[in-house]
Amino acid sequence: MIIIKSNFDIKQIKEAVKIWKKVRTAMYENAKVGITLKELDQIASKIIKKNGAIPTFLNYQGYKGNICTSVNEVIIHGVPDNYKLKDQDLLSIDVGVTYNKYVCDAAYTIIIGTNNEAEKISKICYESLLEGIKSAIPGNTIGDISYSIGKYIIENGYKILKDFTGHGCGKKMHEDPLIPNIGEPKTGVKLVEGMVLCLEPMIMTDSNKYIISKEDSWSVISKNKKLTCHWEHMILITKDGYEVLTE
Ligand code: MF3
Ligand code: CO
Repeated sequence: MIIIKSNFDIKQIKEAVKIWKKVRTAMYENAKVGITLKELDQIASKIIKKNGAIPTFLNYQGYKGNICTSVNEVIIHGVPDNYKLKDQDLLSIDVGVTYNKYVCDAAYTIIIGTNNEAEKISKICYESLLEGIKSAIPGNTIGDISYSIGKYIIENGYKILKDFTGHGCGKKMHEDPLIPNIGEPKTGVKLVEGMVLCLEPMIMTDSNKYIISKEDSWSVISKNKKLTCHWEHMILITKDGYEVLTE
């Protein structure tokens, strides 16, 4: 069931977004050579708690981090550990903030130092997200969003991680509808004003085969160990278009 958000719901979600943005600023400031993923996790946790909010991911289905830190071949759900960031690493950070029962969930990718290959995959991944967002207008469908994202990824030669999708978001992190990163135009649920959606392309190099880490049972890792990337925005469908809440 898709929950259409009231003006009150939207106001509350935007409060969670404000805290999420504070975390994002701190992550960009601190994600530098030598810092550990756990240290980033702690910085995020402190900011979330100081602002009276809860790290949404902590204890979610047994998840042991406050945030997800996915490095290089880890596409999503990287559990923060003692790994020290190195020059040229690609780091995707996914953060969930619950404030007054409402959730903000979105992710971004930071390149440590300079790495052309990493910058390219991040750019294409982000642009595929923008393509999806452009399709997210009332009257279009979820299939239109999925098609726009997937087409852009494929045209640019990257592979799409399947089995994981975007989603609705509100009082729960994962609400209906599911938003795959590949699909057919004019199919699926029609978009209407008041939907809050998380679009999240997850892309890979040369092959979309993946494994789940046996060590932490969460990290989703490319089988060929090549570079991967994840970006996620939370958007609101408005009367005549969309608003990117996590811009
Ligand atoms: N952005 C991710 C998602 O939409 C966050 C889930 S991470 C988890 O699924 F650790 F909480 F599972
Ligand atoms: Co999400």
